[in-house]
Amino acid sequence: MALTALHPRWRGRPGPALSGPPADRGPNDPRLDWWRKARFGMFIHFGLYSIPGGEWNGSFVGSHEWMRNNAKIPHEEYVRLVRQFNPTELDVDAIVQLARAAGQKYIVITTKHHEGFALFDSRYSEYDVMATPYRRDIMRQFAESCRRHGLQLGWYYSIMDWYHSDYLPRRDWESRDATGASFDRYVRFMHAQLTELLTNYGDIAVVWFDGQWEATWSHAFGQATYDLCRRLQPGAIVNNRVDVKPAGGDDRTLGAGMAGDYSTPELEVPARGLPGQDWETCMTMNDNWGYAKDDNNWKSPTRLIGLLVETASKGGNLLLNIGPTGTGRVPQPSIDGLTAMGAWLQVNGDAIYGTQASLIESPYCRTTTQGRVVNVFVERWRPGQLPLDGLKGVPLRAELLADREVQVPLRQANGTLSLELPEQAPDPVCSVIRIEFEAPPTAATDGLG
Ligand code: GLC
Repeated sequence: MALTALHPRWRGRPGPALSGPPADRGPNDPRLDWWRKARFGMFIHFGLYSIPGGEWNGSFVGSHEWMRNNAKIPHEEYVRLVRQFNPTELDVDAIVQLARAAGQKYIVITTKHHEGFALFDSRYSEYDVMATPYRRDIMRQFAESCRRHGLQLGWYYSIMDWYHSDYLPRRDWESRDATGASFDRYVRFMHAQLTELLTNYGDIAVVWFDGQWEATWSHAFGQATYDLCRRLQPGAIVNNRVDVKPAGGDDRTLGAGMAGDYSTPELEVPARGLPGQDWETCMTMNDNWGYAKDDNNWKSPTRLIGLLVETASKGGNLLLNIGPTGTGRVPQPSIDGLTAMGAWLQVNGDAIYGTQASLIESPYCRTTTQGRVVNVFVERWRPGQLPLDGLKGVPLRAELLADREVQVPLRQANGTLSLELPEQAPDPVCSVIRIEFEAPPTAATDGLG
C-alpha cells in the first residue's frame, strides 16, 4: 500500500483467527534438524535507519537502528526517510551468494525492525517499501534468491513498533497522543502482517522475533503468535523472543513453559553453552547491527573464525550480522570477513557442520564431536604435545583436516591422550586435527553445550 499521508491514522484491520495446533516442540523435534546441522547463518539489519547510518543533524546517536529512540526524533521527521529510501545498489543475489560462499546455510533478515517500517509489500501498512521511490518488495527478492541458491530463509519481525498508532506504550518522549490506541488491535495488525509474510513467500524456515520486552506483551500473545506461525508454516522454527521471559529468567534463553523453539544469546557465547537447549548466538561484525557510518571496529577474520569455532564447540549456531548502507551496499570489511570465513570453511567445514558440542574443556584447544570423530581446533599453534585431558576412548588415527594424508602422532600416557603437533601449523588462523576413535569417545567430566 502506498504512503498517502505522513501522519497516518491507520487503525488496523482484523487479523486472522487464532486457532492453531498446540505447540508440539520437544528436544528431538525434527523441525530443528537442518538448523542444528547448519551451525552458521547470516543476519541482515536493513531499514530506514540504514540511510542516516547513525548520524542525525550532524551528530552520531549510537546503536543505530535505535536512532529514532536514542535521538528522540519526532514521528513527522523520521517518516520523511521513506521518501529517501532508494537502495539502488542493493543486489540481493550478490548478498545471498556472499552468504553461500561464506558457508552460511540460512539468512534471517529484518522485515520490520523497531522503527515499524516494512521492507515488504504490506496491505496492512502504508509505511512500507511500496511507499518509497524504490517500490520493490525486498522480501520477495530474498525469497526468490534463497530458493535459487539453496539457502533457508528466516524473517526477523519486531514486536515493538515505534510507528504504529496502536502500539503501546508510547516512548515517554513521544508527543503523539495515545488516546484511543488499542494494543489488542496492534496485535491483530501484527498477525495480519505475519500472515502476509508466512503465506506470500513460499517456505519460510525461521521466524525470529524481537522487541518482546515491553509490559504490554504477554505469554498469551506470545503463545498465540507462535501458534499462528506454526499453523501457517508448520515446518518453521521460532525463536524464544516470541514470548516473555518467566519470572527470574532472562530475555535470551528459552525458559520452561515459554513458546518458542530455541534461545538467542546476543553478542555473547555463553561460557559453557546452554546445556539441554538449542541456541544461536547473534553477533555483529563491528559494534552495530544497522549500518553505522562511524563504526570501524571490525572484528578480524581470525576473531570471526574463532567465534564460529567457539559456538560450534559449545553446541550452538552463529548468526553473524551485516548492515547494508542506505543504498544497499554491503560494507567491504563485512565482505572480506565473510569471504575469509568461507575459505576456511571450505577446508574445515566438516569439523563444524553437523557436529555436536565438545566432550571436554581445554585451555589449549576447542573440539567438536561427531559419532566416532573428535575434531580438535588449534588457534594458538605450538609444536609438540597437545594434551586432551578427560577424553576417553581408543583412538585409531589422527590426521590434518586440511590434508588427510598427513597423520598426526597420538600418545596415551597415564590415561591422557595427546597429539604431537608438527612444526608448521597447516592454517595460519585455526588448524583442525581429526581424530577417529574405535567407538564414540566419552569424557571423564561433563562436556560443553
Ligand atoms: C536487540 C536490539 C535490536 C537488534 C537485536 C538483535 O534486541 O533491540 O536492535 O536487532 O537485538 O539481536
